[in-house]
Amino acid sequence: MKIVVAYSGGLDTSVLLKWLKDKYNAEVIAYCADVGQAEELDGLEAKALATGASKCYIGDLKEEFASDFIFPMFQGNALYEGRYLLGTSIARPCITKGMMEVAIKEGADAIAHGATGKGNDQVRFELSAAALAPDIKCIAPWRDDEFRAQFPGRAEMIAYAEENNIPVKASMKKPYSMDRNLLHISFEAGNMEDTWHDASGEEDKDMYVLSVSPEEAPDTPEYVQFLFEKGNVIGLQYEGIDALIAELGDVKAEGTQDGYTLLNPYGVMRVLNALGGKHGIGRIDIVENRFVGMKSRGVYETPGGTILLAAHQDLETLTMDREAQALRDSLIPKYSQLIYNGFWYSPEREALQALITSTQQTVSGEVRLKLYKGNCIQAGRKSPLSLYDEDVATMEGGAEEAYNQNDASGFIALNALRLKASARQKQGK
Ligand code: ARG
Ligand code: SIN
Repeated sequence: MKIVVAYSGGLDTSVLLKWLKDKYNAEVIAYCADVGQAEELDGLEAKALATGASKCYIGDLKEEFASDFIFPMFQGNALYEGRYLLGTSIARPCITKGMMEVAIKEGADAIAHGATGKGNDQVRFELSAAALAPDIKCIAPWRDDEFRAQFPGRAEMIAYAEENNIPVKASMKKPYSMDRNLLHISFEAGNMEDTWHDASGEEDKDMYVLSVSPEEAPDTPEYVQFLFEKGNVIGLQYEGIDALIAELGDVKAEGTQDGYTLLNPYGVMRVLNALGGKHGIGRIDIVENRFVGMKSRGVYETPGGTILLAAHQDLETLTMDREAQALRDSLIPKYSQLIYNGFWYSPEREALQALITSTQQTVSGEVRLKLYKGNCIQAGRKSPLSLYDEDVATMEGGAEEAYNQNDASGFIALNALRLKASARQKQGK
């Protein structure tokens, strides 16, 4: 038997790797996806091999994650339950895709993951896997009674690692569960389990990774401009962009256009994360409904995503037809729920995506936002495809040919017809 296991090099997945190898008497291949979690991946292969893996793959999925997952999702302004920007949800199908490619190439019988039996991630992994490689089995050790009995807590895992010469650093475990990628970082469990606990205060100050608090953000606002093409940001402009790109190191400008620095989706996310983090943008605290039925409280940092959403929504107000937008918007709660519940690879998500992406044909132009203490403040938008007509909209008389105010009388009269009928019906006339 050959198993590909989702591996990070941490205590949990190291124990999992060795345990799977023994329980199934299997060849185990480690797979680690790099979706921008900014973890040290040097030495990971050696660690996996020392733990018992026959091979270790590291999938650099960062650019694919940005261009094929984050950007298409942001064309829809997706938000789960009105607030969660789906940072973990959208990474799972991307990771699973990378993993299934390895599993198929290796002729594996199964994949395994370290998600618990209580969460969403197990569902997302396994539904994505089913859609991408229906004949490969999924193993979830946390849903195995034997595994849970053997590892009731972290102490047993550390002891098991020692007994089996598994090289794990005995680092202090954070008192909460985190998941980080290019789009966000999530914090769950620990303090967050008390829904009344204020995670924005002094006590949890050191928990945050991607952002300062709005209180600590600079007292001077910063302007940033966006260049959009068909619903995607392709360029950014603000004073410090060159210095920031130099500092980030892994972002390459792809040229300039009208004062904008052109960037690929990965570069856009990296720059916006830094900008948003600096201005205390994108922290949210939510009690959400997991697909498995329970409510769960999470605190998320999504600095770049929050800015991107604000900019994209603003340009749409200028360039999107009212009814096309209303129709697309009416489908977004469903679209977001599909992503949250693990149905990225499904006929219905793909059908919705086709509609969403088709509505983006006109979403090209420029947006200006002012970033200030946790806020993205709208500061202007323009586009060669603008539907806004100053002559029509003006309060100063304006073009009578384009809009004749007298036409409004008939428009209102016909719309009032059924309201009058309904009113008379109520009055018994
Ligand atoms: N509640 C969020 C979601 O379901 C975050 C999950 C975080 N996952 C994790 N393995 N820590 O998308
Ligand atoms: C887990 O349970 O593995 C993490 C949380 C989640 O998947 O919702």
